[in-house]
Amino acid sequence: MKLDFSNIGVPTEKLFGSEEELANALKGFETKKQEFLSALDDPIDALSKFAQDKREDYDTVVVIGMGGSALGARLLADYFDNEKLLVLDTLDPYAVEKVLKSVNMVRTLWVVVSKSGKTLETTTLRNLLAPGIPAKNWVIVSEKDSALWKWAEEKKCPAFEMPQNIGGRFSILTSVGLLPAAIAGLPIDKLIKGAQKMRGQVLCKEVAKNPAWQLSCVIKTLKREKIVNWAYCSALKTFGAWWTQLFAESLGKKGKGLTPVAAMGPTDQHSLLQLMTEGDDNFFNIFIKDNSIERSPLGKIMNIELRATTQSLTELGRPNCTLEIPNRNADTLGQLIVLWEMTVAFLGELRGVNAFDQPGVERGKILTQEFLKETE
Ligand code: PA5
Repeated sequence: MKLDFSNIGVPTEKLFGSEEELANALKGFETKKQEFLSALDDPIDALSKFAQDKREDYDTVVVIGMGGSALGARLLADYFDNEKLLVLDTLDPYAVEKVLKSVNMVRTLWVVVSKSGKTLETTTLRNLLAPGIPAKNWVIVSEKDSALWKWAEEKKCPAFEMPQNIGGRFSILTSVGLLPAAIAGLPIDKLIKGAQKMRGQVLCKEVAKNPAWQLSCVIKTLKREKIVNWAYCSALKTFGAWWTQLFAESLGKKGKGLTPVAAMGPTDQHSLLQLMTEGDDNFFNIFIKDNSIERSPLGKIMNIELRATTQSLTELGRPNCTLEIPNRNADTLGQLIVLWEMTVAFLGELRGVNAFDQPGVERGKILTQEFLKETE
């Protein structure tokens, strides 16, 4: 995996900040006591054994969850093109009915994921489905002693604990994403290995060897407030949704924020690109280039288009960089996940916001409860 900042037009020594600043940011991150990186060493034996035992019994695994409790599974299912793993993260009756109609209820395992155990949409869907589905078809992932955990105890269905010091949007590589992925047969061990590999880099105290620090410094220095993730890799389409949530919910605070824009190449060359070239000069475009597609004539053309797009932006003085990935396997995805998680954590430090809470969504939840009571 290689980051190319040569299209930015500013020497890297002016972009990356000092070793002292990096040390401060790492210290700041440490004080937040977030465990999404250390959790990569948590044993996965119980989870893998459960997954192996269940795999043959079920044709479909449906995750019921919201936000960080759903997007990880969605990203994993789409990246690996796995049709066994579905996600229900809406109350839209048409969408729910579509999923219910598409599955064989007897051979479906319902994985209810909620850290708090009380998210409205998740609880509502579980309550809707629970009467018709036996205990053996349920498994939950939640914090111990949450309402959902207690529900699982009462129902006598298996439960996997979610670590306390990891927020939803940083939880993809915990039981939240790994359990459904493992049941669906995805290579979670390779995913974790890739993530561990990148962990070594994003915790490195040397500026020149820390890609997450470099990315966050570039974003800070360029002062562009709209950050575009251009994936020239169809497997990363849903990665864009996961990344959008990571950026928006972590950094949109105290009247500040970076607006994430998920774009797909070459598709969005015919849609969003005009805005990035001649709209306001407030975009920083980050391209993901999959080198493995060059084995195919189509892929060759696609990467030529990427090159042309980056050059056209550069000629206009619109900053962009390219992240080259060697392939689209589990190792690469594990690395990408940790790279972005830690880039966002560093951005939180650099921008003076706590990347790990989401107070802005609470009021809406309280009002929803009040309005629901009015309709009772
Ligand atoms: O990233 C987050 O913290 C949120 O998006 C949560 O994951 C989301 O609100 C769902 O919360 P919970 O897992 O408690 O049901």
